[in-house]
Amino acid sequence: MDDTARIEERVAEMEERRKRVAIGGGDVRIAKQHAAGKRTARERLRILLDEDSFVEIGVFVEPIGVSGEERIDAPGEGVVVGHGTVNGRTVYVFAQDFTVLGGSLGKMHAAKIARIMDLAAATGAPIVGLNDSAGARIQEGVDALSGYGEVFFRNARYSGVVPQISAVLGPCAGGAVYSPALTDFVAMTRDTSYMFITGPDVIRQATREEVGFAELGGAKVHATRSGVAHLVGVDDEDVLRRIRTLLGYLPSSSREAPPRRDTHDPIDRATPELSGLVPTDPKRAYPMRSVIASLVDDGRFFEIHEGWARNVVVGFAHLGGTAVGIVANDPRQRAGTLDIDASDKAARFVRTCDAFHLPVVTLVDVSGFLPGVAQEHAGIIRHGAKMLYAYAEATVPKLTLIVRKSYGGAYLAMNSKDMGADVVLAWPTASVAVMGAEGAAAVLHRREIEAASDPDRVRAERIRQYRERYDDPWRAAARGYVDDVVDPARTRKELILRLRALSGKRVEPPNRKHGNVPL
Ligand code: HXC
Repeated sequence: MDDTARIEERVAEMEERRKRVAIGGGDVRIAKQHAAGKRTARERLRILLDEDSFVEIGVFVEPIGVSGEERIDAPGEGVVVGHGTVNGRTVYVFAQDFTVLGGSLGKMHAAKIARIMDLAAATGAPIVGLNDSAGARIQEGVDALSGYGEVFFRNARYSGVVPQISAVLGPCAGGAVYSPALTDFVAMTRDTSYMFITGPDVIRQATREEVGFAELGGAKVHATRSGVAHLVGVDDEDVLRRIRTLLGYLPSSSREAPPRRDTHDPIDRATPELSGLVPTDPKRAYPMRSVIASLVDDGRFFEIHEGWARNVVVGFAHLGGTAVGIVANDPRQRAGTLDIDASDKAARFVRTCDAFHLPVVTLVDVSGFLPGVAQEHAGIIRHGAKMLYAYAEATVPKLTLIVRKSYGGAYLAMNSKDMGADVVLAWPTASVAVMGAEGAAAVLHRREIEAASDPDRVRAERIRQYRERYDDPWRAAARGYVDDVVDPARTRKELILRLRALSGKRVEPPNRKHGNVPL
């Protein structure tokens, strides 16, 4: 056989092998995947990435087998990996193929994932993982566990180096949950995904609890109760579309600034609607998301953790073209107080912003930490400390706008001047104090109120006096805790001008190995 014939033969063999890998677990399993309302790994990559941009790596990788003897048939090793582009920017991707041994993770499956993680970190590109896996490949025993170790190690190692985003698009059982949990964002499909450490059967045996898959670890649970999921989409397409949008707010790596987004929204657009939106009575609720939408470019706010710890709102937006992270209290939920979950949510978000150079804009309307035995016993001290730590630690530009009330420890936790805010603005009707007027009057004038023949009248009078004396932003402004008191209608421009002036901010880290964030 001459050289040309030999090459032709090998090319034909290559095509044949490639085709074999491309069909994964075969037509029957693909049909089952579709019938379950799920896309295949390759279909998902086509949706996530720009057209024709996917370049595959490690197509011919095979499983190590069982003790090196018995062959395991796993086309592509049950995972498709490579790189492509999203809106023209490179991302590294892996997509587990549930049609091949349930997307279970073996040693070489993990090696494929580890390979693209290394390349992403070295070149400075985000990692997007599409998870659909039955966990450790049982046949491979400790080799499969070792494979998980390789992935987890890199998840932690590259944390803050490049953005890491996980889509959970099917089962994610056992070890499979911890790689997503180590990444920056987890997005789940509403009806077709679930995540748990031990499934319903094991739970039944261990604790006699009866629970279904969705009830145990479906998207609703993780998006509203556990906080494991940051985003939920109705189906694969929706989740992948959201990830494309999310990537638009993030830099490709910590070596870069986030991409700017051009806008026709004028920086000096007046926002007169804000005065009517926020009632001066501190007890009346209003939609904080509408305040955010008024202020940011084109009213576009990409919310994270929308359904969890709803007393705090976090998410991304642009201000004058600059990508920012926004943290705000929501007075419609638990009166906008900070509790354990809200503290975790805000602290995690601030650290994510800081890692990827997104300035943090904090909108404050907070009466304090949520009082209660349950909160104290579950560790509000430990969790609230995360927020204080995260804000103090963050070196990105930090702007705070006191929209209405800002009291007590929560004043500090919502990024006050002393906690490292670069600029603090307040609206003229804002109030900065140790506590609200009712609470203050009750403490300071308890004896007088108790002794009065008409306690209600005395109490009301003392509250009125307290309000007159303390319920405004002027004392805080007089001491420089508030840099300026601004007209709600001019707030957008004020924020953008100050954000621009802070763009050159650089802070030398303290001389230490690393800090010890209260976990
Ligand atoms: C190898 C597996 C597998 C596994 C499923 N399969 N799980 N192969 N290792 N862990 C295979 C099945 O044999 C089947 O092969 C195919 O994948 C699809 O599985 P089905 O059960 O038919 O699918 P479905 O009915 O949709 O159920 C999905 C499932 C179930 C709920 C995920 O497969 C399941 O419970 N699997 C076991 C989950 C688990 O316990 N994993 C180990 C966790 S321990 P065929 O050939 O029929 O298509 C772990 C430790 C790591 O991960 C710890 C690190 C910290």
